[in-house]
Amino acid sequence: MPDTRRHLLIVGAGGFGREVLGYIEDDNPLFEVKGFLDSRTHVLDSTPRSVGVVGDPLTWQPQSDEVFMAALGDPYLRFKYTVNLRDIHEVDFATVVHPRANISRHAKLERGCIVAPNVGISVDTHVDEFTCIQEYTVIGHDARIGKWCQINSHCTIAGGAVIGDFVTIHPNCVITSRAVIGQGAIVGPGSVVMGRIPAGITVLGNPARRFSFR
Ligand SMILES: CC(C)(COP(=O)(O)OP(=O)(O)OC[C@H]1O[C@@H](n2cnc3c(N)ncnc32)[C@H](O)[C@@H]1OP(=O)(O)O)[C@@H](O)C(=O)NCCC(=O)NCCS
Repeated sequence: MPDTRRHLLIVGAGGFGREVLGYIEDDNPLFEVKGFLDSRTHVLDSTPRSVGVVGDPLTWQPQSDEVFMAALGDPYLRFKYTVNLRDIHEVDFATVVHPRANISRHAKLERGCIVAPNVGISVDTHVDEFTCIQEYTVIGHDARIGKWCQINSHCTIAGGAVIGDFVTIHPNCVITSRAVIGQGAIVGPGSVVMGRIPAGITVLGNPARRFSFR
């Protein structure tokens, strides 16, 4: 039988990209991994993998049998290194859900999302494109998660919470059902978000408040 799987390119060969390669290696019925796209040619020198860096995402000329994943942990870097492929080359981005994730069939994930092992997503939740959800995070019913978000491990996002685009939520946070988090906000680790967080600010603590080291 000829191998009809599509060739997968993972954008980003840092820690998150290597994790994502592991997800594909765990369960890979659809894709043959062709390699990483990363501007840092030598990024895998100290952590070699079965595939290497095959090109730069900013200059890659896609082939018709290729499909892509955006695996950069920082939402703005994810956007920077992916947007040309999305808007100029109009390539396909896979949404990859690890087989050990538990996703309601009434939840909706848009293209380019990555869902790690042991994530739970409940009914009527919407996760917009290019959002990544890390291990053991649970998202309740009717939550709204924006585009290009990074939701790190062991977070609880309560039913009905609303999270804007480009939001980062660090590990072990609780986002309550009344929370509305503005675009580009950063929620520091271990925080409890009770209400509205303005766009673009960093918050930390319980209850989460505006935070800066300076
Ligand atoms: C709370 C947090 C979100 C704040 O982020 P931030 O405002 O961007 O702050 P940073 O951590 O980038 O640090 C900003 C500056 O304060 C400095 N700083 C860091 N820790 C400091 C401390 N304890 N006291 C004083 N200054 C400190 C940094 O060196 C940096 O200075 P620089 O800009 O001159 O390099 C961040 O510190 C944090 O905890 N991130 C989570 C990291 C993590 O757990 N990642 C795991 C992902 S799975």
